[in-house]
Amino acid sequence: MLYVDRTLPWLMWYVSDDKLKAFQVPVKEFFVLYVAVRAARRAGDMIVRAFDERDDLKVHQKTDRDYVTEVDQRAEAAILREISRHYPDHGIVAEESDQHINPDADIQWYVDPLDGTTNFIHGYPHFAVSIAAWKGGKPLLAVVHDPIRNETFEARNGGGAFLNRRRLRVSSEERLAHALFASGLPPYRRESLDIFQKRMSACMSKVDGYRRGGSAALDLAYVAAGRLDAYWEAGLKSWDIAAGYLLVQEAGGLVTDLEGAGLDLDKGDILATNPHLHREFSKLLKVA
Ligand code: IPD
Ligand code: CA
Ligand code: CA
Repeated sequence: MLYVDRTLPWLMWYVSDDKLKAFQVPVKEFFVLYVAVRAARRAGDMIVRAFDERDDLKVHQKTDRDYVTEVDQRAEAAILREISRHYPDHGIVAEESDQHINPDADIQWYVDPLDGTTNFIHGYPHFAVSIAAWKGGKPLLAVVHDPIRNETFEARNGGGAFLNRRRLRVSSEERLAHALFASGLPPYRRESLDIFQKRMSACMSKVDGYRRGGSAALDLAYVAAGRLDAYWEAGLKSWDIAAGYLLVQEAGGLVTDLEGAGLDLDKGDILATNPHLHREFSKLLKVA
């Protein structure tokens, strides 16, 4: 990875594509991941600086219980600048931008500059930058960066998942009664409280413990890291889950919708578990 950080950018800037032809594909793939990691860390630095001075920040309420701060907007602008500078033809879907850039492009980026804004506003130090690129409807790479703990989770399709360059594996827990799971209810889905409560009580009667982290991207990264055995949530947005999805898959976990069918990024219902607990969790979630 030292190679990727130090040498690769130099190569990309100064060596022509022609000379790189023999190993062009892997180099290009690594470079896209490098761009994503660098953008996430830069945004993370901005967020941490603002976190220390957050009393001066302007907070705007988008809808009921859905907030955006100046930092979300500044961090997103920095990430978008970085992606567009290298890949002006790629598509970008980003939480704080009304416009979907290049919607017909084969490669689409999904950007959440600050996942866990409510935590951020309250001074609760648990939030992340989430960036993913998908090609032809399949995940290509993912980065979830926690700027407070300085933890960078990253994955390449077929290349494994890593936390600060250490390989990740999902947990090996097979017993539901010993499982720790996370979930959440999107603020804009309060009308779904009833079904959420049914699902929660089905799970709570069977498992060891529950956490509500407040950042879907970190919940998924924690499943990939084996810190959580499972995570589910309904009605999320594509930018909340596009990166975490690949992290869990590359760490050997299973990711589907709540019923066990293929994940639909636009619907945003997600169940991510280690491979042993998936069937049991999807059965529990059928209560509703
Ligand atoms: C939120 C977080 C939270 C989830 C919400 C999301 P935001 O993202 O991921 O965990 O429950 O539904 O909206 O608004 O902080 O980017
Ligand atoms: Ca989010
Ligand atoms: Ca956000």
